[in-house]
Amino acid sequence: MGRLEGRRAIVTGAASGIGRASAELFASEGARVLAVDRPAADLTFDNPAIVPFGQDISEDAAPGAIVAKAVEAFGGLDIVYNNAGVSGSTPVGETSDEAFDRQIGINLRAAFRISREAVPHLVKSGVGRLIFTASIMAKHTDNGLVAYSASKAGVVGMMRTFALELGRHGVTANAILPGAIATGMTAASFQHDEIAALWAKKAALKRLGQPIDIARAALFLASDDGGFVTGQALGVDGGLMLRV
Ligand SMILES: NC(=O)c1ccc[n+]([C@@H]2O[C@H](COP(=O)([O-])OP(=O)(O)OC[C@H]3O[C@@H](n4cnc5c(N)ncnc54)[C@H](O)[C@@H]3O)[C@@H](O)[C@H]2O)c1
Repeated sequence: MGRLEGRRAIVTGAASGIGRASAELFASEGARVLAVDRPAADLTFDNPAIVPFGQDISEDAAPGAIVAKAVEAFGGLDIVYNNAGVSGSTPVGETSDEAFDRQIGINLRAAFRISREAVPHLVKSGVGRLIFTASIMAKHTDNGLVAYSASKAGVVGMMRTFALELGRHGVTANAILPGAIATGMTAASFQHDEIAALWAKKAALKRLGQPIDIARAALFLASDDGGFVTGQALGVDGGLMLRV
């Protein structure tokens, strides 16, 4: 018996990295998963319990389309994992309105709009779960991350309010704060051995994270194991932020 037997999930950003690993892990634990990513993304999966859905999450009609598709395909919705995200690195003075709006729009606003759309279904579920991929950059920052850090700090603040308001309906809401994870987002940096080694060395566990490290945390929060955990920002960073 899987840990998500019979559960119905949406995972965004499911074509790559953390989202792909999570969709596959959720399905291997018995869930049916709507795997959402951009229409051009590769959304092929071996497990037939994963239903691909090409949709840019920042479009106005995206929340309605995504949630309706999940409910139509699965007959309801128990888990929404808002994971899709984009980053950018420009000094404050060179960060355009467009770059700022894009990161806020995808990382924060789209996650809000999809979650809001899903609320009635999560309430009906009785075991509703909202999960967000934030970042250690929700609490910290680095040069060039003005829009990214703002978006991820926003995700954590937003998550707490969902948790507070929906708790009475048995719905939990939590955010995962990954450290340095080897994914599509970080491939350009970590293809350089010296950069990968630097980030691995900073972590107490002396390695980069892999998508499955984050997927396992998401599984904990999605399953009955995480049933009394809500409103939390869970660092999953291999001890990256333990020292200055
Ligand atoms: N990799 C890291 O070190 C790291 C660290 C902290 C947080 N994160 C966060 O993890 C999450 C997952 O990223 P990842 O590292 O797996 O990167 P990734 O680039 O491998 O995957 C992100 C996925 O999101 C999708 N996506 C982006 N914008 C979208 C949109 N508008 N509509 C639909 N899909 C969209 C992309 O197409 C991609 O498949 C992101 O929110 C990211 O900010 C990553």
